[in-house]
Amino acid sequence: MASTANPVYGNYHGYYSKRPFVRDSRLSLLPPYFFAGKTVLDIGCNEGWVTCEIGQLWGAQGVLGVDIDDTLIRAAWKRRRSLWSQQSLGPRLLQDRDPSVVTSKRVKQHHDDDHDYFPASCEHSYGPLPIPSNRTGAAVFPHTVTFRTVDWLTEQDASDESRYDIVLAFSITKWIHLNHGDDGIRTFFQKIHRNLKPGGTLVMEPQAWETYSKAKRMDERLRDNAKHLQLRPDDFHRVLGDIGFGPPTHLGSVGEGGFRRPVDLYVKI
Ligand SMILES: C[S@@+](CC[C@H](N)C(=O)[O-])C[C@H]1O[C@@H](n2cnc3c(N)ncnc32)[C@H](O)[C@@H]1O
Repeated sequence: MASTANPVYGNYHGYYSKRPFVRDSRLSLLPPYFFAGKTVLDIGCNEGWVTCEIGQLWGAQGVLGVDIDDTLIRAAWKRRRSLWSQQSLGPRLLQDRDPSVVTSKRVKQHHDDDHDYFPASCEHSYGPLPIPSNRTGAAVFPHTVTFRTVDWLTEQDASDESRYDIVLAFSITKWIHLNHGDDGIRTFFQKIHRNLKPGGTLVMEPQAWETYSKAKRMDERLRDNAKHLQLRPDDFHRVLGDIGFGPPTHLGSVGEGGFRRPVDLYVKI
């Protein structure tokens, strides 16, 4: 889908200029090796900042970021290349010479590295460095990170079923709920459940009910849909339990101002 005039899907452009980070504070709630060696799906990845961080700094085996808005996905690919370009020499050599390095060591190396090898000023003047082909097929950034434009709720992709260790749903439940109603949010959670491996984890940052009123004012259709909503975000843990997730683990709330939201973890049982 091309960009909409109103961001009715929460498809804000420049989202991360309002919510900037070097390391995403929501991810910082998770244990250091949470993503190491894991396959991850980031639903509603926007411009791919979180997706790239998981692939570059957290040692994931593979991360797919999906978003409904094609312009955002193009920006996400650009960010991937730019981060690769500015990545310091250490991880590149590490990847090129020793792809078999144990995952936890690789995560530590990435966490310790500085990121000034090909500085942003050089990229500005000369463009980003080209990404070399992945000759060894090793699970290393940027090859671990891919993006896809898709309406993840309505478009079918059976190849994703039971494939992921971890699914991220950060700041997207409100948009699914307002656009597709109570049935839509149930379908969304069911699809996440199907896409996770047994024992896999959903990491979710739901928006509060109070924030729906501003969002729905953006569009007549959202206003109409909102009138029929019976479920509230506080009910989501019950819906997820009925679908086959264990009880939530509340990791905490981070973020500034209106972005201060809870992050919860659910395990597929
Ligand atoms: C408010 S942004 C959150 C971005 C990111 N997850 C974060 O928290 O940093 C919500 C994103 O979900 C995307 N989105 C909404 N509905 C979607 C759908 N059905 N399929 C895929 N992406 C969707 C929007 O385009 C938008 O980029």
